[in-house]
Amino acid sequence: MKELRTLFWRNGALYLIDQKALPHRLRYIKCRTYLDVAKAIKDMTVRGAPAIGVAAAYGLALAAKSSLKNNDAMLKRVKIAADVLRKTRPTAVNLYWGINRILKVAEEAYMKNDNIAKAVLEEAEKMAKEDVEINKKIGQNGAKLLPDKCVVMTYCNAGALATVGYGTALGVIRAAVEMGKNITVIVPETRPKLQGARLTAYELETAGINYRIITDNMASFILSKGIIDCIIVGADRILARTGHVTNKIGTLSLAISANYFKVPFYVAAPISTIDFEKTPEEIVIEERNEEEVLCFAGKRITLRNARAINFAFDITPPELVTRIITEEGVFLPSELINLKAKYQFY
Ligand code: MRU
Repeated sequence: MKELRTLFWRNGALYLIDQKALPHRLRYIKCRTYLDVAKAIKDMTVRGAPAIGVAAAYGLALAAKSSLKNNDAMLKRVKIAADVLRKTRPTAVNLYWGINRILKVAEEAYMKNDNIAKAVLEEAEKMAKEDVEINKKIGQNGAKLLPDKCVVMTYCNAGALATVGYGTALGVIRAAVEMGKNITVIVPETRPKLQGARLTAYELETAGINYRIITDNMASFILSKGIIDCIIVGADRILARTGHVTNKIGTLSLAISANYFKVPFYVAAPISTIDFEKTPEEIVIEERNEEEVLCFAGKRITLRNARAINFAFDITPPELVTRIITEEGVFLPSELINLKAKYQFY
């Protein structure tokens, strides 16, 4: 199966697939500074929780590299860059996880008098490598849940493009296909940014996996027909204390419909998406520019004075989630807290 690589480091720069140009053009943009990376995260050139976590880590590598040749200046610059990158998108916990992991390495290097720029870049490279390995494990764990022949609905894009490679929810589908299972994927378009129609469809097409795109408002009716074996989505933040799942706006509606029509609702995500501390009330849901709702394909579709609400994510309660698929195995939402002792790094 053809492998997509969302981002990579070469000759002192970070290259990102420009996801705004997909599906019509596959091109990479070059980030030379942490500010380039911050802009790319904000305008969704790079998007998807794990991908923005790793992109931010490389952003800090660019910050360290660009500064003066001594460790004091490097640490200072890395901290300033971390503050900027933290403010790009508020909901995905992976962003903070990536930044905190790099800060810890930078501080350790400072204490040991090791070169910070070198240590930070090595850690970012390690995170990128781990991301793909973890997604493959998620894929193996999740694929076992799928019947040999089935129709799976996903949502948004939780594929290679939302990670460094392979994907989480789409990783499960990929792994099932690699095991020889016969899978058809139903892809809701995912208004307003159309990650389903543009990105997930692109990935499935590239991988040669059967799919059909639907409008978002078709999902409940299709579920009511009894033709969907399960739904698999990704996540931006899963609360270990309560089991709530934050993901792309519209996930909650799908989960409610799936529950009503008794269709299993799976969430596939790495442990780095688990937030071991926060409660649902503390989650910041990103609100994006109204223009994203008021315009379609760059053209205004409503009155000039019309206003819109544009929440980018929603929160699904644990009782609507059948299982959470991670690299550590498959869990009930209530079981995630047991991972805290092993995984609460930052
Ligand atoms: O706004 P986006 O496109 O960054 O939102 C992406 C999602 O909601 C994904 O489902 C989530 O980040 C998981 S990606 C593996």
